[in-house]
Amino acid sequence: MFEPTNIIVTGGCGFIGSNFVHYVVREHPGVHVTVLDKLTYAGNPENIAGLPEDRAELVVGDVCDRELLDRIVPGHDAIVHYAAESHNDNSIADPEPFLRTNVEGTYALLEAARKHGVRYHHISTDEVYGDLALDDPARFTEETPYRPSSPYSSTKASSDLLVRAWHRTFGVRATISNCSNNYGPYQHVEKFIPRQITNLIGGVRPKLYGDGLNVRDWIHTDDHSSAVWAVLTRGRAGETYLIGADGEKNNITVLREILKAFGRDEDDFDWVRDRPGHDRRYAIDSAKLRRELGWEPAHTDFAEGLAETIRWYRENEAWWRPAKAATEARYAAQGQ
Ligand SMILES: NC(=O)c1ccc[n+]([C@@H]2O[C@H](COP(=O)([O-])OP(=O)(O)OC[C@H]3O[C@@H](n4cnc5c(N)ncnc54)[C@H](O)[C@@H]3O)[C@@H](O)[C@H]2O)c1
Repeated sequence: MFEPTNIIVTGGCGFIGSNFVHYVVREHPGVHVTVLDKLTYAGNPENIAGLPEDRAELVVGDVCDRELLDRIVPGHDAIVHYAAESHNDNSIADPEPFLRTNVEGTYALLEAARKHGVRYHHISTDEVYGDLALDDPARFTEETPYRPSSPYSSTKASSDLLVRAWHRTFGVRATISNCSNNYGPYQHVEKFIPRQITNLIGGVRPKLYGDGLNVRDWIHTDDHSSAVWAVLTRGRAGETYLIGADGEKNNITVLREILKAFGRDEDDFDWVRDRPGHDRRYAIDSAKLRRELGWEPAHTDFAEGLAETIRWYRENEAWWRPAKAATEARYAAQGQ
């Protein structure tokens, strides 16, 4: 078992990264976290404000900055790499930042891990596997061939391949986890669930892409954090673990659950133009993670997790309000 005491979390001011930082500070008292974050439009230092100074520290910088990495990586025992350009729609509008951060950034971190002998864990997505047909009984496993559809998922797939090569060729102690769609607090209002919730709080009708039948496999972000901790500390170097909580639901069902939580009619939304190349269905088989590492999700009631998330957005309007108008203007320009 690997027992880290001083870890770097890249992208720790974003949605999932900041939830992981909160998780580590709460659950693993002997561990110090250095957050490395460029604070793009998706990063907000408020996400980790208020954590004890001796437990979490923020370094503002770019994961592509190799001189910076040479300064901060020594003295740490692990890098957990969350930082990414993460929004499919943005990758269609402008793929360039995705290539830079997702591919070049991963390369820079792998080189730093190799040079300084540090354990490396790579956060990836189920989207590298492409999509499944709605009526296909199969789910993704660690053996599923890569078949990414979008500029976002293709850059994530590329970064996964770099990690595998750096382990095999240079012996970097690396693991990869590919997780399904996360929900929970601190998620940017551009993403599906927060967009619907904040529209409803603001008195605006929610918007649904395409025919609403696209299926995503939802997991609470705290369950993603506990799974990443299990892989970081007990996973075998060179291995990939899929993370999922058996939460398959189509978009229209999720939207109707949100409408129900707001006491609104189930058809109280507008249809909008679909995303080009929109993946149909994602589904994760997380048997390996459960069998090998004994991991289980704690949030198995989606309606309850959703209600908690809605409460968080209601109570934290000052957190999301500044990004809302610009995000909706961007969607409007795309006809969405
Ligand atoms: N959101 C999901 O449902 C989901 C599911 C599976 C995997 N993932 C993966 O989890 C990770 C985090 O996703 P998220 O939804 O929290 O993303 P996010 O967009 O909310 O956060 C990304 C964070 O990375 C930072 N960042 C971006 N470019 C950077 C750079 N060059 N240098 C340093 N920091 C930089 C941003 O400032 C931000 O804080 C990503 O790797 C993503 O691919 C996300």
